[in-house]
Order: sequence, then C-alpha cells, then structure tokens
Amino acid sequence: MSLERTAAASAVADGFSERVVHWQRSHGRSELPWQNTRDPYRVWLSEVMLQQTQVSTVLGYFDRFLARFPTVAELAAAGEDEVFGLWSGLGYYSRARNIHCCAQEVMARFGGAFPQRAEQLVTLPGIGRSTAAAIAAFCFGERVAILDGNVKRVLTRVLGFDADLSVSANERTLWNVATELLPPAAAQPGAIERYTQGLMDLGATVCLPRKPSCMLCPAHEICVARQQGTPENYPVRTRKLKRSAQSLWLLLARDSAGRSWLEKRPARGIWAGLYCLPVFDSHAALLEALPMQLRGSVRDGAPFLHVLTHKDLHLHPVLAKGDTKSAMPGTGQWFAPDAWDGLGLPAPVRKLLST
Ligand code: ADE
Repeated sequence: MSLERTAAASAVADGFSERVVHWQRSHGRSELPWQNTRDPYRVWLSEVMLQQTQVSTVLGYFDRFLARFPTVAELAAAGEDEVFGLWSGLGYYSRARNIHCCAQEVMARFGGAFPQRAEQLVTLPGIGRSTAAAIAAFCFGERVAILDGNVKRVLTRVLGFDADLSVSANERTLWNVATELLPPAAAQPGAIERYTQGLMDLGATVCLPRKPSCMLCPAHEICVARQQGTPENYPVRTRKLKRSAQSLWLLLARDSAGRSWLEKRPARGIWAGLYCLPVFDSHAALLEALPMQLRGSVRDGAPFLHVLTHKDLHLHPVLAKGDTKSAMPGTGQWFAPDAWDGLGLPAPVRKLLST
C-alpha cells in the first residue's frame, strides 16, 4: 500500500471523520446566514462568494445580493451591469460574470432547479470540483469530498502528506485520499453535512497557516504534522499554481457528406492556433449561433473532463446534423474525415471527431 493510503487508513481507523463531526457540533460555526438551509441557491451564492473572500467581508454582500435577487430566476433575469454593480468591491469579477451565467444556465438547462449531484453541478460556470461538492453535500447530503485551500492544509497535516501539490498527480492523490476519509456511507444522517462544515471550520479557525492552535484540534492526537513538530511545513507546494475549472460547449456539426465544421482558434487563449470545433461558453450561446436548418437535429453528447495544466475543462459536445446554406458560426469550413489527420487538432476534439 502507498504511504498516502496507509496514512489515510490509519486516520480512518483513528476515527478522523467522527472526531471532526463531533467537534463541529460544539465548536464549529452554526449561525452564518447560509447555514441551516438546504436551499442550493443560497448555498451556491455563499460558496462562490467565499471562494477567495473571508466570511466577514462576504456577510454584507450576501445579504444585499439576496435582498435584490431572492431567487435564481430573478438573478438570471437581471442585467449584467446590475450584477456587476452588486459585486463591486468583492473582487475576482469573473465570479460575478459566472454567477450570472450560471443562474441563466440553471434556468435554461435545469428548469430553474439546481442539479443535485456534484458531477452535474461542476458543469455549471464558476463551480469547481470543491464548490460542487460543498453544495451537493450541504443541500443534498451527497457523500463527496471538498478540497479547497483550507481543507488541503488540514488534510496534508493530519496525514503528513508531503508530496508537492503543484504536481497535479499529487493533487489527484490527495482528492482520492480526501474521499477515503469521508464519514462512512452508513454514518448517521447529517454526518456528511457536519463533516464538510467541520473541515471548513477547522481550516478557518484552528488549523491556521501560521501558528495553528493544535491543542484545540479534535485531530491533534492523530496528526502526523503535529507529531513531527512542524505543522507549518504543510502543505508542500514548490510552485504557486492556481488551478481553475471551465465549462465549454463544442459544436460537432456534420453534413450529409460526413464532413465536420472546424475553425482555426485565435492566436491567444485556449488551444491557440489549432483547428477546433466551434467553442461556446454556454449551451444557449451555441444554440443561438446555430443556423436554423440545424437546430432541429441538435443532440447533447456525453460531457467529459479534459485536464489541462492550469485548468479542468468540462467539455460538452453538442451534435447537429444536416446541410445548411446559411452561414455557420465563425470563420471555419467543412472538412472531410480524410483531411482531419493533417490538421492541428486539440486531443479531445480529435477524440470527439473519431467517435
Ligand atoms: N468557506 C467556504 N465555505 C464556507 C462555509 N460554508 N462556511 C464558512 N466558511 C466557508
């Protein structure tokens, strides 16, 4: 068994999840305005606001935002300017654009009800793997692991996980280990919700980057970093690397001769200069760009994950078949299958074309 798996197995045997759950009940936070609710709209909004911002700052924004947009439908219907206005001062404005787009997608793709599973939530704009898991756990009790910056600190310390987290394979290992540490499926109802909140609370109030309050920690007896005497050495990260996630919709148009529509990507940005299926930021934007004659044949393909160095891409192929005389979106052309080999194509696009 690998070192990480051995460390995880002993933390499980030493009751790590039970310790966190028990501690959260008496020492965790319980009165924040996004707690004591299973409303995914409120939980989503708070989790996105909390992604890069402290609780004390978020409080005022959260209340103002909800007062103006009490439901996802109202947020979706708002003008972008107003959303940006309310976000003003919170920073990281791509989050504002994303929450607006996300609200619109919840309306368009899910009829106004947030999906319940983390694997669906993660396909929405601005919802990364950890945020998706937090929403699914808090609102729907799904047994999935979160792993934001604070939780990475807690888990790497408890386990003595000293692999370099700037290496994505190591980060993946930590995700797997985080999943092994979850309360067992047979735990009492509410355990995953409390455990998830407990990890966040430990990271924010006890297991601090510098001078952690180890004596207050429910895991102090089993914490490897504390036994080593240097908890501040964790997590190990040699390069600062900010990973992000993005959802993209790819139009896979085929004409009756079996040709596919491909266009050259701009010189900058993702897949720069390669030939590619037309790329859109949302399902709605793709449909809007599609010529009338193709709209009737549209079928959603299976979404899949494509991992880049700095980004998790959640790719959603959308298939459309037929011949059209009117303009296709963008500046591409129809390419027959025998021409595909000679084109520079991103790996996931090549895979899609050949299926
Ligand atoms: N940070 C991220 N999510 C949080 C939550 N639900 N409560 C407190 N702090 C958080």
